[in-house]
Amino acid sequence: MNRNDLTEQILHLKKERNALILVHNYQRPEVQAIADYLGDSLDLARRATQTDRSLIVFCGVHFMAESATLLSPEKIILLPVLDAGCPLADCATPEMVRAARLQHPEAVFIAYINTSAAVKAEVDVVCTSANALKIIGHYAKEGRTICYLPDKNLAAFAEQKLGIKIITWPGQCYVHDRLITAEKVKILKHSHPDAVVVAHPEAPPEVLQLAEIVTGTAGMLKAVEHSRTSEWIVVTETGLIDRLHREYPNRRFYGIENAICSQMKLTTLISIRDALEKTQHRITVPEPVASKARQALNRMMELTL
Ligand code: 13P
Ligand code: SF4
Repeated sequence: MNRNDLTEQILHLKKERNALILVHNYQRPEVQAIADYLGDSLDLARRATQTDRSLIVFCGVHFMAESATLLSPEKIILLPVLDAGCPLADCATPEMVRAARLQHPEAVFIAYINTSAAVKAEVDVVCTSANALKIIGHYAKEGRTICYLPDKNLAAFAEQKLGIKIITWPGQCYVHDRLITAEKVKILKHSHPDAVVVAHPEAPPEVLQLAEIVTGTAGMLKAVEHSRTSEWIVVTETGLIDRLHREYPNRRFYGIENAICSQMKLTTLISIRDALEKTQHRITVPEPVASKARQALNRMMELTL
């Protein structure tokens, strides 16, 4: 079956099942094309709560579908590929967080949304790339000791931006921390000296130093929207660059060629069609983990209003 037939089949099933399709910015272009909403982790979590449709197909990775389930427990949230996980999220386990809390009983524990529900259940508050500085800054202003997990690069960026010290975690995203390097960004800058460099805060400090703007995927889209600059070096996963090419055909975007999150690319049109046809794979979170993790997510929502 070709791409057009599959897309038609999905749109037909979506209507029949009154479903909503949420798609992360790193998904394949053909998956982005069938999105009801295409966005970053924060926006998609919000969209899941705002819809009155009770069936949601979440095209992203496991922790994203889990967050949607936590925030909208009455809805059925489907992840088309059950194995689509996030290696950064795997850098923290609930046992590790419990041990760290014993070591730092005075600290407020802030978890990146890229964590499992079981880890979220052990922390005080969650944040995303879009609101990390706001949330960490909120507790810094209160004079609290802060432990941020699991992304060491985002923690280093927040330390530098807010002028504070954070208890950090040895976690990283292999796409931003390994596949993206300062050398590769320098080569792009050399070939495109007029381009503005925008980088995701999951990239290491030596990469962020080369960027004019450091922000999450939603922030990158906003930066392009609000600027007339025609050339951009976009230092993040390639799915976002696919989106920018499509939405701004008259501007030029350069990315790091192999900065591909293979977990994000597991979702295909076939897997979405199957998810809608067979109502698979429903993501659930058992109690008491769900209530505790929901509290940490809701705290983020309150602080981000
Ligand atoms: P955003 O929330 O910025 O879209 O990032 C999610 C992610 O997984 C980054 O690697
Ligand atoms: Fe996880 Fe990195 Fe993939 Fe984002 S790009 S989902 S942080 S592995």
